[in-house]
Amino acid sequence: MTNLELLIEEIQQLKDPSLGITLKESSGLLGHEFNDQVLDLKIAIKNRKKDESTLKLDIARLVKIKYQIPGLRIEFFDSKFKLDNEEKITYIGVISGKGGVGKSSVSANLALAISRLGFKVGIIDTDVYGSSIPSIFKLPIEPLDTTEDDEIIPALYGDIQVISPEFFMPKNQPLMWRGPMLGKLITHFFKSVCWDPETKYIIMDLPPGTGDIQLDVQTFVPESPMIIVTTPHPNASHVALKAGLGAMEIGHPILGVVENMSYYYNDCRQEKDYIFGQGGGHMVADALKTSVLIEIPINQPLNPESFLYDLEDMNGKLYLALAKKILEKL
Ligand SMILES: Nc1ncnc2c1ncn2[C@@H]1O[C@H](COP(=O)(O)OP(=O)(O)O)[C@@H](O)[C@H]1O
Ligand SMILES: [Mg+2]
Repeated sequence: MTNLELLIEEIQQLKDPSLGITLKESSGLLGHEFNDQVLDLKIAIKNRKKDESTLKLDIARLVKIKYQIPGLRIEFFDSKFKLDNEEKITYIGVISGKGGVGKSSVSANLALAISRLGFKVGIIDTDVYGSSIPSIFKLPIEPLDTTEDDEIIPALYGDIQVISPEFFMPKNQPLMWRGPMLGKLITHFFKSVCWDPETKYIIMDLPPGTGDIQLDVQTFVPESPMIIVTTPHPNASHVALKAGLGAMEIGHPILGVVENMSYYYNDCRQEKDYIFGQGGGHMVADALKTSVLIEIPINQPLNPESFLYDLEDMNGKLYLALAKKILEKL
């Protein structure tokens, strides 16, 4: 073994502190190059914020002191490695600053598109005051069954699993009682649901703004990636930006912005009409240093009875593109 090979072997034996396993086991050493007395390393670790400096120091000790190599450059990346006991489900939040911008439509159609890509998906409706997921999926409003261990069995639309407070509410209950009654119930949605074991993704339709439910999400599914929904209009985009900043502050990475109701495609003139103006999505994306994932036009589903877009619908195709983009980013 050459000296360089020995050094690389020693680096491979260092542990990723957050995973508790060696870089060799986590395939954390992505690449190395040695030129003109400079060693370049590409390293992926689980928690860059917390562990970068510790690992940098350990590596520098080996490279500079033990092996007497003067130059060292390390580029860090996020490790995609998952431990066996780590939750295999990815929770993706959908947030907005205000209601009526299409957050629930985006959540439902995104879940549908992900399932069209062949993944098992669930959707948690947490919008206590503006719950609309069961009606989008046209599910009967009746209490959901539970398992012997008291886990809630989701309602099904095809193989999309749906959980909503709506299933547990007495009909026509005044809105003012919903918050206190349902806040507690929502915590069960993160802890005691009998999801299909193949479930890969769970979409959370979150209430607009910031409140108790956002904090529950932070507690039960911390660092879950978020999608921000806004319309092009400044009224929506200014508050969407605040919701995005709030989510980032409590540690959620932002996957990007969905600009909904971006335009209406005028078939006669074959032009886009920007009914609600332009630029809201990009304003939010720029301010949050992220990107606009997609612009969804105003469009009724081909089936006028439905809120879900078929694959033949222009919006159905756009949602499929959105789902692919999101899964690539995760
Ligand atoms: N791209 C769109 N084209 C046409 N109608 C839409 C579109 N997005 C949402 N809608 C409609 O706008 C209304 C509000 O959408 P919804 O998803 O309930 O918003 P939110 O969950 O943000 O309150 C619903 O009636 C929905 O069907
Ligand atoms: Mg809604």
